Amino acid sequence: MSKELVVYFSVYGTAKILAKEIAKHTGADIEEIIPAIPYDGIREHYDALSRQARKECDSNQRPAIKNKINISAYDRIYVGYPIWWYTFPMIIYTFFEKYDFSGKTIIPFNTHMGSENGGTYDTIRRLQPNAEVLEGLSVEMRDAEHGPGPAVCRWLNKIKKQED
Ligand SMILES: Cc1cc2nc3c(=O)[nH]c(=O)nc-3n(C[C@H](O)[C@H](O)[C@H](O)COP(=O)(O)O)c2cc1C
Repeated sequence: MSKELVVYFSVYGTAKILAKEIAKHTGADIEEIIPAIPYDGIREHYDALSRQARKECDSNQRPAIKNKINISAYDRIYVGYPIWWYTFPMIIYTFFEKYDFSGKTIIPFNTHMGSENGGTYDTIRRLQPNAEVLEGLSVEMRDAEHGPGPAVCRWLNKIKKQED
């Protein structure tokens, strides 16, 4: 079986918890999408981050990614992020516009506070029309913080069964 990769972007650490859990159960390699200009991860500063993210979204920005992620060696790539302003953070657009996933399988996952996946799995299908995008895992932020293990296992088993 070819090696899998988990790629994630996370500011408060909850998408990272999911990413690590997925890597633990699949044996996948793991890479973080690191912004060239770091976001403020102090939760008390939420209002400022919220305004910044709104501005990025309204002006259709593509925040730069600091690191290079080698996706070429992988056929199956899990991609994780939080929901910001009802969709994924604009840096995820940067990511999907920078890399070509043709012929690969993308398996999305995300954390949120009520918006579920915000339609982002369909957005990924639109941005990467030559990739297969599987049904993702959407976890409420608090649930991700309080042990997402069982939910991740159930979801991984479900994906596996669908593919058998
Ligand atoms: C700028 C910003 C905008 C957000 N917008 C939404 C939203 O529209 N819908 C939602 O369910 N949660 C929203 N949230 C909550 C995030 O989804 C939650 O903080 C996220 O799951 C945390 O992921 P992280 O710990 O990996 O950074 C927002 C959070 C931030 C910081």
